[in-house]
Amino acid sequence: MTKIRLENVSYAYEDRGAALPAVEGINISVHEGEFVSIIGPSGCGKSTLLSLLAGLSFPSAGCIFIDGQVIKGTGPDRGLVFQHYSLFPWMTARQNIVFGIRQVKKSTGKKTIEKIADEYLGLVGLRDFAHKYPLQLSGGMQQRVAIARAFAMNPRVLLMDEPFGALDAKNRVVLQEVLLKLWDNGSEKKTVIFVTHDIDEAVLLSDRIMVMSARPGTVVREVPVEFARPRDRAALIGSEEYAGLRNKMVSLFYDDVLQKIGGSEVAL
Ligand SMILES: Nc1ncnc2c1ncn2[C@@H]1O[C@H](COP(=O)(O)OP(=O)(O)OP(=O)(O)O)[C@@H](O)[C@H]1O
Ligand SMILES: [Mg+2]
Repeated sequence: MTKIRLENVSYAYEDRGAALPAVEGINISVHEGEFVSIIGPSGCGKSTLLSLLAGLSFPSAGCIFIDGQVIKGTGPDRGLVFQHYSLFPWMTARQNIVFGIRQVKKSTGKKTIEKIADEYLGLVGLRDFAHKYPLQLSGGMQQRVAIARAFAMNPRVLLMDEPFGALDAKNRVVLQEVLLKLWDNGSEKKTVIFVTHDIDEAVLLSDRIMVMSARPGTVVREVPVEFARPRDRAALIGSEEYAGLRNKMVSLFYDDVLQKIGGSEVAL
């Protein structure tokens, strides 16, 4: 079933009175429970696209539908994990998660909500840090709290903007696995839109990868990733199929930039 549909979506920022087109003519359909990654050069409009999906801004042209309804604003059906940690600095890790859960479970008692918060803190390996404030946590730990909060709110759709971009390689692998476990918890799969610069991350995690062109960004290719799940990371990375898809992605990702370097404009 189609969960999210973008029809000819364009968005332009206003820049000193002139329109600056960020994304243009985007057409995407995402199935319920699908894990879709978006990759593309810096500044091509990936974060802009997620803001539109979140309902934080609205298309300059075209339409975005969720469950067949036009998006009218933000909603608890969509959870967000941003590029930069977005915790409230005056709340502890647990309070941040409790606050998130309260937004969607208004009538649930304090004890139950705290129990859910602790459960998700445990899932991201931070049970012992429940009472620490964001400034007492490393960047990676803060991002784990943000991820725990997003999942604890149990949205149907997760919009993730380079959530692991600032993590070291080891933490990144751990959190990718946590994300996959939370995504497919054995009952219902969430629908995930995941922005990343990392080709391996996109290939390992996704059902489908959307490749965007430089600004004004549009989807230039959709690449299905058909490896069986659950994926055995080590076996997959060593396989010929993986190397083939990875090479294809590298050339799709960099061709755009290389063409520009060949011309007069360099986009990095
Ligand atoms: N608030 C804003 N006002 C004006 N222009 C903006 C604004 N936010 C983004 N832009 C411009 O829109 C374009 C797309 O920005 P966006 O942040 O969506 O890119 P991105 O693909 O997420 O980049 P990155 O990979 O670096 O995060 C860029 O050219 C950027 O300069
Ligand atoms: Mg961005």
